[in-house]
Amino acid sequence: MQSNLTDHHGRTIDYLRVSITDLCNFRCIYCRPPEGVKLIPHDDILRYEEILKIISVSKKLGIRKVRITGGEPLVRRGVVNFISRLTHEIGLEDVALTTNGSKLDKMARELREAGLKRINVSLDTLRRDCFSAITGVDDLTGVMKGIEASFDVGFDPIKINVVLLKGFNEIDIPEFARMTVDRPLDVRFIERMPFGNDTEPINSPDSFGAAEAIGIIEKSFGSLIPLDRSPLDGPARMLRIKGAKGRIGIIDPVTGHFCPTCNRLRLTARGSLRPCLLGPLEMDLRSLLRANPDDSQIEAFIKAAVMAKPASRYANLRRMETGMNTIGG
Ligand code: 5AD
Ligand code: SF4
Repeated sequence: MQSNLTDHHGRTIDYLRVSITDLCNFRCIYCRPPEGVKLIPHDDILRYEEILKIISVSKKLGIRKVRITGGEPLVRRGVVNFISRLTHEIGLEDVALTTNGSKLDKMARELREAGLKRINVSLDTLRRDCFSAITGVDDLTGVMKGIEASFDVGFDPIKINVVLLKGFNEIDIPEFARMTVDRPLDVRFIERMPFGNDTEPINSPDSFGAAEAIGIIEKSFGSLIPLDRSPLDGPARMLRIKGAKGRIGIIDPVTGHFCPTCNRLRLTARGSLRPCLLGPLEMDLRSLLRANPDDSQIEAFIKAAVMAKPASRYANLRRMETGMNTIGG
């Protein structure tokens, strides 16, 4: 069935990203300041029941794909049962999760059994010291075990998200690229976006762009082969090292232009719908939800959020007030 959610700019919205917690066991430099972020009071966080309600109404409107994010989604208690209800009760087929990987070694199997098919692991370096410097936690080994566990239980695809961090991970890029050669793994390089908790200057001259990353990879592996776009790849441009089993993805929110194909809406842990990741607008669905609405009121609210999607990000990417920890990417 075609989605009923079409915005003012002709884009069909069939993908909902759901942040289930602002909590995280890491403190990545681009996401959280060392002194910590202000946490959301417990009662302000949507209950699983409420999230399931929103998703089930969204599904009626044409949402086909849901991605669970955070903070770190796997630190929220009950997440496995929640995913199981999502796939079994609501019958959503395409459920994915983005995680920092630290809990995957223990949880991969139960997540797979709950019906989760697709998994993205955020990992920015393959060196232990650098990992600690970026995340504030000495757990590279744990994350690598988590990735192995994901292969063992049969997640497909498995994607690794690498945020390009000047001065940190330039030298990791070839090794990340090499990981795509022997296994059907997608490694996606993401330009660093200027979020509120990030203290880097916006569009700083020494930022590390997608073109530079491609240059580094091609120096080691030769020309990359551009691949056809698939809807499952979202905003990523996909490339392949000649003969490789896996793929390399490039996500360039800073230097690229992917707004015309945007197909998504975001639900924050607080229960607000965000029409655009890079815009300031948040629409408080939680208040409506807690006032005993009928489904048609929730439907109307979701449609209004779709209609509030801007044609593109603001001409000059500006620093956002909300941190990535409450939106989940
Ligand atoms: N710029 C780009 N990507 C970011 N992420 C978190 N903060 C930023 C940022 N400032 C990524 C995480 C994860 C995904 C949810 O978003 O690394 O892969
Ligand atoms: Fe946690 Fe992800 Fe933010 Fe890192 S980027 S602190 S892993 S939520």
